Amino acid sequence: MSIEKRTQVGIIGAGPSGQLLARLLHRKGIDVVVLERRSREYVEGRIRAGVLEQGTAAVLELAGAAERMRTDGLEHDGFLIAFDGRVARVDLQKYGNSPVFVYGQTEVTKDLNRLNEADGIPVHYGVEVTTIRDLDGDAARIVYKVDGKEHELACDYAAGCDGYHGASRRSMPDSILREFKKTYPFGWLGVLSNTRPASHELVYSNHSRGFALCSQRSTSVSRNYIQVPADERVEAWSDDAFWDELRRRLPAEIADPLETGVSVEKSIAPLRSFIAEPLRCGRLFLVGDAGHIVPPTGAKGMNLAASDAAMLASSLGAFYADRDSRGLERYSETALDRIWKAERFSWWFTMASHRLSDNPFDLRMQVAELDYYTGTRAGLTSIAENYVGLPIEDPVTGGTIP
Ligand code: APR
Ligand code: PHB
Repeated sequence: MSIEKRTQVGIIGAGPSGQLLARLLHRKGIDVVVLERRSREYVEGRIRAGVLEQGTAAVLELAGAAERMRTDGLEHDGFLIAFDGRVARVDLQKYGNSPVFVYGQTEVTKDLNRLNEADGIPVHYGVEVTTIRDLDGDAARIVYKVDGKEHELACDYAAGCDGYHGASRRSMPDSILREFKKTYPFGWLGVLSNTRPASHELVYSNHSRGFALCSQRSTSVSRNYIQVPADERVEAWSDDAFWDELRRRLPAEIADPLETGVSVEKSIAPLRSFIAEPLRCGRLFLVGDAGHIVPPTGAKGMNLAASDAAMLASSLGAFYADRDSRGLERYSETALDRIWKAERFSWWFTMASHRLSDNPFDLRMQVAELDYYTGTRAGLTSIAENYVGLPIEDPVTGGTIP
């Protein structure tokens, strides 16, 4: 493997943030090198959420990577919230002026990988970054290991797209970094199956036994989830036990016709909220899960990765085109503004829909809250505009991307 010694923007991590940023920068004529710890097969095999905001679709369009999403993705004009034995619909077109696209993040990653490879963008797999040095020097130095030997990639700027457990955030001095965290005492048990989705639209269900979500990847592939205790083991759940529990947590009109089948994938993900501030230290910028984690309720993770990548690409673009560093100066603040709002929505939707305690007061209060939100124009507008995604501000111009 021959890895470049120097580049303009060094990107750590080839998840959706890293691949999308690489593609956006490459199309602006900026040189990039991407270093990824895992294999391509591993990265493409991870199952993640599957709802894309209109803004994410537009950013993929900007990156020239929206073609398969347009043909294979499903446009959804609304979704359902089940609670207290009834089903309410959030009309996204009416209250949020936009649909969302149901298209798996795994597919987005595969599309980006294939296109970046075809364009000759250097993406090196099996390369573990250990640290990023000289953040305030003339060049940032990305230190990585291959076969136990240390090497360096020098770059004007480093983009930490290496997720929550990556090396980038840890390379920032403790004295400037602040971290805000909340862990929830539950996780999601998710099952992928080749079965018809429970409903045309996604169903988020608040139930006294716990939360459930019926999502989908296509008209013949379902992705369903149930809330489980944080320390639950996936081995404890047979397919039958999963389907039985899912049915119990859904209203009869959705549970009765539910098609069940063998699981293709089954896993448990913990729920947490996390934000790091600032997202910049000298020549290093944090993008996507490296800087923040949302609980999956509302599917904001991949969408935030896309808005961060779009904001940083615009900022770096203005710098290389015109030596205009306004965007680089404002990236952290502009991205965090949107991140905190998406964190708020994900937290709110989690707290309103999950079983929080044994205290009946909590459930009755959730029912009142969901009744209010789904029964008033103000409530529906609030849910819908957050679900379809808040505008993506351009740190350079203060306008909207794209
Ligand atoms: N060196 C090189 N690569 C690394 C390192 C390292 N030290 N540490 C982590 N990585 C790689 C991981 O292997 C992974 O492929 O960085 C990548 C980070 O990808 P993601 O975790 O997918 O994060 P991101 O690209 O920001 O995407 C955010 O992914 O986790 C979901 O819900 C989340 O939808 C959101 C999206
Ligand atoms: C998913 O399809 O995996 C999914 C959809 C919506 C969510 C979370 C996950 O809110």
